[in-house]
Amino acid sequence: MDMQLGWKFLHKETFIHTGDTTNFINVPHVIAMVGLPARGKTYIAKKLSRYLNWIGINTRVFNLGEYRRNVTQAYRNHDFFRPDNDIAMQIRTSCAKHALDDVVQWLETGGGEVAVFDATNSTYERRKMIEEVVVKQKKFKLLFVESICDDPNIIEQNIMEVKVSSPDYANMNKDDAMNDFRQRIEHYQEKYQPLDREQEKDYSYMKIYNTGEKIIIHKHEGHIQSRIVYFLMNIHITKRTIYLTRHGESEHNLKGLIGGDSDLSVRGKLYAEALANYINDQNIEGLRVWTSWLKRTIQTVAEIKAPQERWKALNEIDAGICEEMTYEEIQKKFPEDFRARDQNKFFYRYPRGESYEDLVVRLEPVMMELERQGNVLVVTHQAVLRCILAYFLDKPASELPYLEVPLHTIIKLTPVAYGCKCEFIKIPVDAVSTHRPKPEVPGTIEKLINRSNGEIE
Ligand code: ATP
Ligand code: F6P
Repeated sequence: MDMQLGWKFLHKETFIHTGDTTNFINVPHVIAMVGLPARGKTYIAKKLSRYLNWIGINTRVFNLGEYRRNVTQAYRNHDFFRPDNDIAMQIRTSCAKHALDDVVQWLETGGGEVAVFDATNSTYERRKMIEEVVVKQKKFKLLFVESICDDPNIIEQNIMEVKVSSPDYANMNKDDAMNDFRQRIEHYQEKYQPLDREQEKDYSYMKIYNTGEKIIIHKHEGHIQSRIVYFLMNIHITKRTIYLTRHGESEHNLKGLIGGDSDLSVRGKLYAEALANYINDQNIEGLRVWTSWLKRTIQTVAEIKAPQERWKALNEIDAGICEEMTYEEIQKKFPEDFRARDQNKFFYRYPRGESYEDLVVRLEPVMMELERQGNVLVVTHQAVLRCILAYFLDKPASELPYLEVPLHTIIKLTPVAYGCKCEFIKIPVDAVSTHRPKPEVPGTIEKLINRSNGEIE
């Protein structure tokens, strides 16, 4: 390919612009949210950003509310948002331009790939301004995502859940804040122009009605936009709980061997019993149980009373030529590989096996299905659980392979506001630790800490 043309994808996080964009490898994207206040725009923006970062696309949210608060500290009340408040309107427009400048700068020189511009962008004029900068001047790709919601219960719930605790209302009581926010919405409503299929027919856009009841997609382009559209079609806001756990301690865990397909140890079986009691006692509505294809996860859920599904994609990382060895053996037999893994654990691929990066790719369909589901218990393995946890807790690739997911512990995830609450519930059945912390000197064996009795193994 001619290196003079278009955007060049130099390495994972760097683009250079070389003029013409008719021939490009990867063009930066702007996703501009659209909609009245309390329609879930920030929620969608943050969730989308978390997903894209997890699949390796460098994404950042630019929230206009934060820009506004930086220039006008003292939000008094909804009057600020009256359409006839000229001074405030100037401030709002100038903040939007400032935020857009930052978006452009980050995409051009900051290594960004997708910027989510989180604002109401609720008029033709504002959207035209965005298109002018993003598409006409910068030749980036632009997708508008509009959230439309006319269900008063959802809107009230949204105001209560996230708006009354906003910094705007730090000095207001809850009822006054609720009222003020309702009036703010009314001011926006006076001027709101939903994306229009005639007037704005050349734009790429997606409209989400009542949290996904109906979806319209108009002229979306390319691979990244397809993935975004698909992801946003799958998410929902129904309350549910996700339970994650590793299998009970296995025979291989006791011997310090990685991988393989061994049975549960005696203590592992006790954990399976305790887990079944814990889960069965709660009568969780519509619970589904997902395991890998490996014996240790299937044995762990044997006594759980709920429909079960097996996913090959939930199998443990494939350690290739190192399968069923101890870390000490690997260090002795393959010292260079051992060191290389410590130097870049996320990207390191075992010879004839997998890397954590590969795992994320194989897990994507699982995560997509998990987004669609209600209450689920996922029983899987150390490396796989690290990937799943990183998705929910927004952890970067550098931290992901070192996240601690001890055996005999249930991780309970409950959605709250823009993220999720994460509780570690330790079940009182001892188990070895298989966590190998990041060594200060790559390629050296650090001690494994057996957390159940505090001893060094
Ligand atoms: P503002 O314009 O004031 O920033 P917003 O549109 O960004 O408001 P959020 O702050 O994202 O609104 O509102 C969060 C709430 O929206 C969450 O409680 C979430 O459950 C809910 N939510 C998420 N998706 C949607 C959707 N598609 N429609 C309506 N509500 C949604
Ligand atoms: O030791 C248990 C285990 O699940 C192995 O099967 C797997 O190779 C390993 O953990 C993954 O952890 P790490 O990536 O830290 O080696």
